[in-house]
Amino acid sequence: MLRVGVLVSGGGTNLQAIIDAVASGKITNAKLEVVISNKKDAYALERAKNNNIEAVCVSPKDYETRDEFNKALMDTIDGYNLDLIVLAGFLVVLPAELTRKYARKIINIHPSLIPSFCGDGFYGLKVHEEALKRGVKVTGATVHFVDEGTDTGPIIFQKAVEVEEGDTPEILQKRVMEQAEWIILPKAINDIANGIIK
Ligand code: GRF
Repeated sequence: MLRVGVLVSGGGTNLQAIIDAVASGKITNAKLEVVISNKKDAYALERAKNNNIEAVCVSPKDYETRDEFNKALMDTIDGYNLDLIVLAGFLVVLPAELTRKYARKIINIHPSLIPSFCGDGFYGLKVHEEALKRGVKVTGATVHFVDEGTDTGPIIFQKAVEVEEGDTPEILQKRVMEQAEWIILPKAINDIANGIIK
């Protein structure tokens, strides 16, 4: 049984997709051990509580220095003996020590077809604003392993989504979530849990 931790910062719709996939059997051999957020008011923590999953906040505001926060985050994660860490909208730069210690055990969902519209500063709505500004006809989402870089680790799955006439960043974001993110992230977790992806 794969011990999974999910790191979140916002609304948690990707977390919800994972929770639903476990409940429906789309994800097998995996247990959501903990949801950790850097934001006390992240609705994703509510989603965890509503589904009897341990919900923990490690907030930078509670620590004097970034190093102290990083250590608290590491210690919290280590305490759950996780086999897989899922970044689902986690807007914190991971400490290099964490990505090294959990090498090939951290995956991330990014709302574009990497290597387009990714890297430092490309997160949330900005990704879709840039895609619309560039006039792309197709965008999508990517699940990848996390390494020391930003959105640079080995790609696991990608799913393309059509850009439609009149799309705003918000409309496009929702379509990318519904048609791509909420499908490929649970699939990646299931395939890792069942040894299909090493
Ligand atoms: C999603 O757009 C995801 O692609 C990005 O952050 C957002 C998280 O949304 N990594 P949610 O908190 O899962 O709703």
